[in-house]
Amino acid sequence: MRELATSQLPDGNAAAADGGLSSPPQALLERLKDYGQEDAFALWDELSPEHRLLLVKDIESLDLPRIDRIIRCSFKSQGLPVAAIEPVPESSVSTVEERTLEDREKWWKMGLKAISDGKLAVLLLSGGQGTRLGSSDPKGCFNIGLPSGKSLFQLQAERISCVQRLAAQSVNEDSKGSTLIHWYIMTSPFTDVTIRKFFESHKYFGLEADQVTFFQQGTIPCVSKDGRFVMETPYQVAKAPDGNGGVYSALKYSRLLEDMATRGVRYLDCYGVDNALVRVADPTFLGYFIDKGVATAAKVVRKAYPQEKVGVFVRQGKGGPLSVVEYSELDPSLASTINQQTGRLRYCWSNVCLHMFTLDFLNQVANSLEKDSIYHLAEKKIPSVHGQAVGYKLEQFIFDAIPYSPSTALFEVVRDEEFAPVKNANGSNFDTPDSARLLVLRLHTRWVVAAGGFLTHSVPLYATGVEVSPVCSYAGENLEPICRGRTFHAPCEITF
Ligand code: UD1
Repeated sequence: MRELATSQLPDGNAAAADGGLSSPPQALLERLKDYGQEDAFALWDELSPEHRLLLVKDIESLDLPRIDRIIRCSFKSQGLPVAAIEPVPESSVSTVEERTLEDREKWWKMGLKAISDGKLAVLLLSGGQGTRLGSSDPKGCFNIGLPSGKSLFQLQAERISCVQRLAAQSVNEDSKGSTLIHWYIMTSPFTDVTIRKFFESHKYFGLEADQVTFFQQGTIPCVSKDGRFVMETPYQVAKAPDGNGGVYSALKYSRLLEDMATRGVRYLDCYGVDNALVRVADPTFLGYFIDKGVATAAKVVRKAYPQEKVGVFVRQGKGGPLSVVEYSELDPSLASTINQQTGRLRYCWSNVCLHMFTLDFLNQVANSLEKDSIYHLAEKKIPSVHGQAVGYKLEQFIFDAIPYSPSTALFEVVRDEEFAPVKNANGSNFDTPDSARLLVLRLHTRWVVAAGGFLTHSVPLYATGVEVSPVCSYAGENLEPICRGRTFHAPCEITF
């Protein structure tokens, strides 16, 4: 596990084992002073011996030089003018319209071949706390109310299973499925225990337990507006996960890139937990990626409306590299600028949080990101010893790696087929479990009708539909034998 904290820091003044500290260990205090963080000991005199010991251990566990570098670089970069951005030229995107049936078939086969050769692993970003959804459990445990009652984790696990089967069958018709796709799951200290238990209690949703690897992302202290540590309690620094871009250092320090190489993995498909339609391990996307020969690729959809909470792909200046500007950082006037020729939004290519990387690129990029040490500063209310303090959480974003990539390809997907975000609690205006459920039901209903099935329904069809289990189909394929001529009463799950 990569932690910005490390308990092995040398400090001449380690706390006495009996907790009997009368004053802060001098060497530790001096180290804090070097970084302007000595206020962490401000309430020392009021602490019990046990709490003094906890405070010393907490501070000793921090990699102070690294954290200081991150704070300084991030604050400095915040003051700088934002680099000029340009829209991504349409020619840089593989659009849905320009794709031929031959392309799609070719990429699907190439992807399945690479998967059957064991070259693909998938990585789920699941360290987020999902506060907007209003659930105390990690988001992946959430049941969005589909007829099957499946959680987001289960939907993803079954899609992985389905692709494994398709890949195995692509090389051997009678195969019962010997291909395994390794699933790396990034948790954080806030989600780790619950997620592991959820997987154990659900028997890994039919996957092999040893094809799933959990690892934790790091945490980083929250800071006040002048860069000092916020104290959550008198003896503990407030900390938060270091953002989903913490995945790069977490992979590096937990030596999982070596683990992937040992398994023969060449490509890694990284995705966010909260998209009910996510095509995990999509053979078509993988085939496209391999065909293009790029180091990174991302799925994109056209932005639905200017204020939609999605990051948008941009080009950094004329001829510069591609990157993503997060919705929280895009100037609202730029977000609503229209391209006069097309009548569409100028910044229209939305990030759906599904990225493909080569292992070679991942091996390089953690060092580049660490060297720059620039994190995003998210202004938040942070629970502190003085009540709710306004300060910053420091975060890296997974797409911060993209500008370092020697080559990036964008792959448009059909929004209604692949993007059903689950962000806000039911009752909000958008991206709720209810809206995601309807998107799944409508898509699967279209698949069933296209495969010759019929539907009855006692509520209007626009408010219901059928759910196709990933046991039967990954993307609408192979449904005719199950659906042709049959009538299903919606809502229901169609499975073998
Ligand atoms: C994210 C994208 C945004 C995209 C949108 C699409 C990022 C930074 N932003 O926004 O560009 O348009 O999804 O739905 O990727 N996570 C961690 N560790 C953390 C924080 C988050 O693993 O410290 C995970 C979450 O569990 C989730 C994913 O990263 O799986 C996305 O995080 P979230 O905070 O939900 O991002 P959004 O704001 O929705």
